[in-house]
Amino acid sequence: MRKKYAAGNWKMNKTFEEGQILLSEVVNMVKDEVVNPNVQVVLGVPFPYLSSFSKLIDTPKVALAAQNCHPKESGAYTGEVSVSMLKSAGVKYVIIGHSERREYFNESDEFVAQKVDAILAGGLTPIFCCGETLSQREAGIHFDFVSGQLTNSLFHLSADDLKKVVIAYEPIWAIGTGVTASSAQAQEMHKVLRDHLASKYGQEVAEEISILYGGSVGAGNAQELFSQPDVDGGLVGGASLKSRDFTDISKSFPA
Ligand code: 13P
Repeated sequence: MRKKYAAGNWKMNKTFEEGQILLSEVVNMVKDEVVNPNVQVVLGVPFPYLSSFSKLIDTPKVALAAQNCHPKESGAYTGEVSVSMLKSAGVKYVIIGHSERREYFNESDEFVAQKVDAILAGGLTPIFCCGETLSQREAGIHFDFVSGQLTNSLFHLSADDLKKVVIAYEPIWAIGTGVTASSAQAQEMHKVLRDHLASKYGQEVAEEISILYGGSVGAGNAQELFSQPDVDGGLVGGASLKSRDFTDISKSFPA
């Protein structure tokens, strides 16, 4: 059975103290309440908090993610953070290719591909984000566009390495807008992406890859989204900043 994920992306939110409280609340709720044992809870927190937050997590049910990394191992890259730094701070997952980084920091598919390689070489798990704009969807090119993002950033990998990648489909028009893709729209795209993976790596490999949905996931719609056969969880922005909502999302998977 594919691994399921409830992943939070805090983005650039919360002070250190606020974050400590939120993290502790989520860890305690996930430990105390009934979360499907096949669900990995992941918290993508700001860089400066990673090292100390990793010491606050006392359950394998919760793991830490960074929200970015640089592909180089070390060197003169002022302000950047390498995979080995993240690893030494207790990080297990790295979110890469988020549309906000693609848009505001001009990150290309090729640059994201280099990050994928660095993360895998360091033994961490990339959470690879992809997704189309509203105008691409309206033009009917969304399936080709998102499939192309996978081709450009992942298809150089061996099957064994591809199996270590988590994919997050996040339609840009659904991020932070309160407009969620319908469960049918999410399922449709996830199936297209799984078929695209199968066309290169075969069905057996494609069936092993977890594909998360992101874009206005909340406690009220998670259950419907996560009940879709190709939706293996969520990458959650706004609702991950509220411990009760995020824990409820973590509990929204079919038994
Ligand atoms: P929202 O859940 O706030 O729409 O954000 C989604 C997202 O970008 C997660 O990476």
